[in-house]
Amino acid sequence: MRSPSLKSLSFALIVALGTVPPWTAQAASPEPVKAEHGMVVTAQHLASDIGVEVLKKGGNAIDAAVAVGYALAVVYPTAGNIGGGGFMTIRFKDGKTTFLDFRERAPLAATKSMYLDDKGNLVKGLSTNGYLAVGVPGPVMGFEHARSRYGTRPLKELIAPAIKLAEEGFVLEQGDVESFDGRTERLAKDPAAAAIFLKPGGKPFAVGEKLVQADLAASLSSIAEKGPDAFYKGAIADAIVKASAEKGGILAKKDFEQYAVRELEPVKCNYRGYDIVSSPPPSSGGVIICEILNILEGYPLSYLGYGSAETVHAMIEAMRHAYVDRNTALGDPDFVENPVSKLTDKAYAKEIRDKIEPFRAGVSQALMPAGFAESKETTHYSIIDDDGNAVAVTYTLNGSFGAGVVAPGTGILLNNEMDDFTAKPGAPNLYGLVQGEANAIAPGKTPLSSMSPTIVSKDGKPFMVIGSPGGARIITITLEAIINVIDHGMNIQEAVDAPRLHHQWLPDKVFMEPYALSPDTRKLLAAMGHDVQIDESWKIWGQATGILVGGENLEEIGAGGGARFNGAVDSRIGAGAARGY
Ligand code: DON
Repeated sequence: MRSPSLKSLSFALIVALGTVPPWTAQAASPEPVKAEHGMVVTAQHLASDIGVEVLKKGGNAIDAAVAVGYALAVVYPTAGNIGGGGFMTIRFKDGKTTFLDFRERAPLAATKSMYLDDKGNLVKGLSTNGYLAVGVPGPVMGFEHARSRYGTRPLKELIAPAIKLAEEGFVLEQGDVESFDGRTERLAKDPAAAAIFLKPGGKPFAVGEKLVQADLAASLSSIAEKGPDAFYKGAIADAIVKASAEKGGILAKKDFEQYAVRELEPVKCNYRGYDIVSSPPPSSGGVIICEILNILEGYPLSYLGYGSAETVHAMIEAMRHAYVDRNTALGDPDFVENPVSKLTDKAYAKEIRDKIEPFRAGVSQALMPAGFAESKETTHYSIIDDDGNAVAVTYTLNGSFGAGVVAPGTGILLNNEMDDFTAKPGAPNLYGLVQGEANAIAPGKTPLSSMSPTIVSKDGKPFMVIGSPGGARIITITLEAIINVIDHGMNIQEAVDAPRLHHQWLPDKVFMEPYALSPDTRKLLAAMGHDVQIDESWKIWGQATGILVGGENLEEIGAGGGARFNGAVDSRIGAGAARGY
C-alpha cells in the first residue's frame, strides 16, 4: 500500500482539529517602517534617502529606481555598480508589467573552453579574478532604457545626487565598513582599485572615515552629460578596453558598441490566489520560484507551521527537484530553448509532488538527467510610489567588488559575471552550482542568473515587492520571504529576518542558517535521510529588502488594513534602510 501523502495527512488533521494556526504571534524583529505615499528599501541608507527625495519631488518609482541605482554604485561599492549588470521588474499602476534585462553579455572573443587548461581542467581563479572574468556591463544602458521609456525626470537630475556623493565623499558607518570586510588583499592586487578602496599603505577604511571617489564622479558626470554613449561609445569604454588588453582580458570596443538592453515578458504564476511576477531567462529566478511555489501549493504549509520537520521536508524536496531544472535546462533565451511553460505548469508540479515521499529524503544523484556528468556580491532594492507603480531591482558585480579591478581613470569596479556560466559542465562555480550545456559560454551570450526581483499582487493590486542577493540562494531567500508572509502570517520585517534554509540539488545537503531549526527538528529530518548542515557565513544568506502593501501582515490586512506601505530591510544588512514618506 502507498503511504499516505504529507498533504492528505495534514488536511485530515486540519479537518479533525477544525482550526487554522493563529497568526497573531510576533517574532523578535523590529517593526516594519510605515508610510503612506512612497517607500524605498535599499542596502544603503543614503541611497534610500535619495530614492525617497525623488518620489517626494514627484518622480515616479522608475525615476527613483534609476537614482538609487546610480547612488548605490557610489555608496555600496561592494555590489552597487555601473560595471556589472542586473534586472528590473516593473508593475505599473494600471497592472501592466515588464522586465528589463541589463545583465552582462560575454565578450565576442569568449569561447566555451576559455577557463580550461589544455588538459580540459578548470584554471582556478580565471573566471572570478581579473579582466578575463569580466562580462560587458549593462546598468548604464538599463537605467537609461527604464528612465527614457517609463520615467518622468531628466537623467541629469537623477544622477546628480550620486555625483555629489562620489565627489564630496560620504562618511562610512559600521555597516559600510563591514561590507568591505575581508576584501583588502583582493583589492590590493589592482592598483587602481586599491587607490580608491584602500587607504595609503593598503589599510582598509575605518568607521568615521570618508570615502571619496573622484574618478567615479567624473565618469558619472560624463554619463550625465552625454548619456549612455559616454559609457558604451566614448572614453569610458576605451579605458576599460585598454586596461583589459593590458591585463590579459578580451574585451573589445565592439562589445560595448553593440550592447543592448532586452525588454522581456516577466515570468508569471499564481500561488494560493496571489499573482507572482518575476524574472524570466536569462534569469532562472522567476521560473524556479514559480516551480517551487507550485509544488508547495499542494502542502498546507500554514497548518504544518514555520520550521516544522514536515514543512522543511516539503520545502527541501521542492527545491531539490526545481534546482535540477535550474541547473540543466535553462540559459540565455537567445541561445537556448527554455522550457518555461513546462516548468511553471501546475500539472508538472503535481508530477513532482507525486515523486516526493512523505517522510523520506530524496536522493539528488537519482535525479541526474541523462548525459549530465558531475565531476557577494549583489544587491536588491524595492520601491513603490504614491500611484502604486512598483519596481524591484536586483543588480550585481557577482562576487564582492566583482573581478576586483577598476580600469584606471574610470573609478568603475568591473564584474566577474563570467563565472555564472558553466565553465566546465559538472564543475561547481563560485556558488557551488553544478550546471550544464544550456549555460555554456558563447560570444554575446548572457550567463544564467538566479536574481529574482519579484512583485506579488492580489486582486489586481500590488501586495509585495521583494528580492535579495545571495548567489544561488537568491531564489530560496525570495521564495521563503513570500511564504513567510502568505503561509506563516509573518509581517514583512519578520519575513525577511526569519532564519533560512537552502537546498540546490547538488551538493545533496540542506544548508541552514544558525538557529533555523531546533535540535529536535534536525533529528527528525536526519531520520528522514536529510543531511543538514549549519552554514555560518552570514554574507551568503543574502540581504532581502521588501515592501508589503496594505498592512504589515495578512492579519492586519484582513482586519481592515494598517499603514499603506510597510518597508523592511533585512536585519542582516548593516548599512541599509527602509525610508518612506
Ligand atoms: O546573477 C547571479 O545569480 C549571481 N551573479 C548573483 C551573485 C550574488 O548574489 C552575490 N551576492 N551575494
